[in-house]
Amino acid sequence: MRIQFPQVELNIYNKNNPVEVPILSSEVATSAASPNIIRHITFDLSGTELEGKFHAGQSIGVLPPGITDKGKPEPLRLYSISSPSDGEDGNGKHHSTTVKRLIGEHWETQKLFTGTCSNYLSSLRAGDIVKVTGPSGKRFLLPENAEDFNYVFFATGTGVAPFRGMIKDLMKKKHRGEIALIFGAPYRTDLLYESYFREVEGTNKNFHYIPTISREEPRADGSRPYVQTQLFDRQKLLYPILKQENTLIYICGLKGMETGIIQGLASQGLEEYLTFKKELTGDPFSWDADEMKRAVKTGERMFLEVY
Ligand code: FAD
Ligand code: A2P
Repeated sequence: MRIQFPQVELNIYNKNNPVEVPILSSEVATSAASPNIIRHITFDLSGTELEGKFHAGQSIGVLPPGITDKGKPEPLRLYSISSPSDGEDGNGKHHSTTVKRLIGEHWETQKLFTGTCSNYLSSLRAGDIVKVTGPSGKRFLLPENAEDFNYVFFATGTGVAPFRGMIKDLMKKKHRGEIALIFGAPYRTDLLYESYFREVEGTNKNFHYIPTISREEPRADGSRPYVQTQLFDRQKLLYPILKQENTLIYICGLKGMETGIIQGLASQGLEEYLTFKKELTGDPFSWDADEMKRAVKTGERMFLEVY
């Protein structure tokens, strides 16, 4: 089955030519009990060249104010669009993203470390103005002939953002093929867009929502449930979908999550999603991580966006 991606316009605005837009709304998307703060933030793109231009899966660039330690202007950060292609408003004027405040202890100084852009953006309130760029990304998209495929989406944390938009797009088109969303979060309180995914699951037999909570109940062998362990724990559901020739895999979220997914696919004989630059033998879970990075790439039916 040929995958045709839609023609998308890229970088209508860039870092040298950003556009100022107001924040329309900003709401906490995690539950009140969660120590993590993730916000669903909507930009009002009305009257700019960005109106109607974003596709689910693309990213918007945000330019935070200020200067870096090296005396340069703060660089642009990218955030996945979590709204459907026609926006939250249905007219492509209001697009959203899903931003996690980066907060931690500095790994060397032990002082509080706060990410610049995620905290800047998360502190903006409705009506505040922000400099944005985009659209960015031309391959992490649903195909133009979206109805011809099944989808297996793997997400960790805010990596679920593009899949909310894509699933909304597919639902609007009354998609008939299978869709599985495997979503990893540390605690139940960190699940994002839970009520939307549950609602879709309740009304669409072809939609399979597989939340994967890593730190609450360990697996039988004591290991943490991760999105890739669902390839085994939910094999009865996932394997027949993955075996179909018209199934596409999309992966978004934590850098490094692809390693476990590749090993899981290879160990189930699902090599059709992978491209081997060099033959690797033996148990995929014993493959050397560096060698694997050099030898295995995503195949034509697998798309990756990790950060
Ligand atoms: P920065 O100030 O840039 O700090 C991050 C840097 O600090 C990193 O180099 C990291 O190694 C380092 N660091 C992290 N923790 C510590 C620590 N404890 N001690 C010392 N150093 C540390 N993010 C989202 O929230 N939602 C999205 O939808 C999203 N989509 C993305 C899509 C793409 C295509 C890409 C490339 C990235 C995406 N991101 C997303 C990530 C986002 O672009 C930013 O990288 C993120 O918000 C952190 O930026 P920041 O300015 O807050 O942190
Ligand atoms: P854990 O942190 O318990 O090890 P968030 O971005 O909200 O922190 O969520 C990331 C989720 O992805 C967590 O459940 C985290 O588990 C899990 N995770 C961590 N490392 C990997 C990995 N290599 N592959 C897949 N999932 C991972």
